Amino acid sequence: MSEGIDIRLEALTNPATARAPAPVLTASTAAEGISPRGTFFLETFGCQMNEHDSEKVAGVLLARGYQQVETPEAASLILYNTCSIREKAAQKVFSRLGVYRDLLGKEQRIGVLGCVAQQEGEAIFARAPWVSLVCGSASYRHLPQMLAQLEAGEQRVTGLDNDTDETFETEVTRRDNPWRAYITIIEGCDKACAYCVVPFTRGPERSRDSGRILAELRKLADAGFTEVQFLGQTVNSYLDPSPRKMRFSALLSAAAEVQGIRRVRFTTSHPRDFTSDIVEAIEAHPAICNHVHLPVQSGSTRVLRAMQRTYSRSEYLEKIAMIRGAKRPSAITTDIIVGFPGETAAEFDETLSLLDQVKYEGVFSFKYSPRPNTPAAAMPGAVPELEQSRRLALLQERQRAIQIDALRKLAGQMFEVHVDGKSKKENQWYGHSSCNRVVSFHSPATELLGQYVAVRVTGCTPNSLIGDHLQ
Ligand code: 5AD
Ligand code: SF4
Repeated sequence: MSEGIDIRLEALTNPATARAPAPVLTASTAAEGISPRGTFFLETFGCQMNEHDSEKVAGVLLARGYQQVETPEAASLILYNTCSIREKAAQKVFSRLGVYRDLLGKEQRIGVLGCVAQQEGEAIFARAPWVSLVCGSASYRHLPQMLAQLEAGEQRVTGLDNDTDETFETEVTRRDNPWRAYITIIEGCDKACAYCVVPFTRGPERSRDSGRILAELRKLADAGFTEVQFLGQTVNSYLDPSPRKMRFSALLSAAAEVQGIRRVRFTTSHPRDFTSDIVEAIEAHPAICNHVHLPVQSGSTRVLRAMQRTYSRSEYLEKIAMIRGAKRPSAITTDIIVGFPGETAAEFDETLSLLDQVKYEGVFSFKYSPRPNTPAAAMPGAVPELEQSRRLALLQERQRAIQIDALRKLAGQMFEVHVDGKSKKENQWYGHSSCNRVVSFHSPATELLGQYVAVRVTGCTPNSLIGDHLQ
């Protein structure tokens, strides 16, 4: 991970008690050999797309007769789903693989999945010959064949397709949360931002059929899920491949009308494709969450051009004005990169002034790090690490002040909170509002997990709201 501190509100969620227990075995039950195929341990790094890919990968393995265990030692197959978006990702994966080499028993196999697998490819076998499977995310649909190869004793199995127009569809997905489900609606990215490795690791943009997405959602609703999050690197660039040609905003609206679905989220939006019909859908459907994650990356038009972001500062600000001006305004969060090659002190100041102007509800900020194969990696004008750190600290300080100020003003307001968990403190619970604020609140109720409750705000911390359950 980058040294950027995550001050996006959702990052404050305490996952401790929110999760349904995954269907895992203990080391002892695994050793008793109750699974005919074997057991697997799956560890995931990175974004929500990766988390959800892992849920689908786990589904494929479970459907094949594998059982999931909670420690690598207990697994016959150890899988790492990796992320390479920022800083020394490959190095970290290799050092971790080194640790596991020493733990590996004779019968155990190890596989590397995700973005580092795609980026490093077969070079992984050369540096870590104890690895048996290297599979990028664009090849997950071939997992059953790859597992069959592994089971047949093949030592080096690869899935490194990157030029595909197919998406990863599975009948079975092992979902980690009993109320909130992810659905990937678009995979890959065609945007070619100069710093970003995603177009190389996740391949070209490909959208899923709207009919299949809605059918999956109806099934989830029937199974008791009440919140869905549509995922995509550029979720609002969704282009329905079916003859219905449903627009992204129409897909959101249709999802909001599925019986049993109380909340529809979507992330991440690209500013260029953020159109007024999305705002209108949010206005028209209370079930569509009023939170927009709209990465800006920089407040300087010159830097944005160098980043190939395809919009200027003022074009971005027009989108913000549209969202803020809605009858039902949304909370807006963003991603920012500091110290992009050539970024001057004055250009960085433009990013600070953008924070003042937009007053984001949350910011996710990073120091630029060069990624393999990307155009920015060859750009002159590297900003020294110390200066990057200075800019990052300044930015986070400025944003923290903006956030506290905004949160304080919310005292007395009511929020509907979807309850994620119970804190260790007695009668203390936490969850998210529709606008994705973390709210911790007091309630004497004995069971609230997964429920939607009304909370009146009484105070705040720098990153979250505090309140009381209104019964
Ligand atoms: N260096 C720093 N941050 C990056 N991001 C993507 N690539 C890089 C990079 N090379 C950040 C962007 C993006 C978020 C997911 O990660 O801000 O929106
Ligand atoms: Fe990367 Fe840009 Fe695509 Fe986002 S839009 S995944 S930052 S290339």
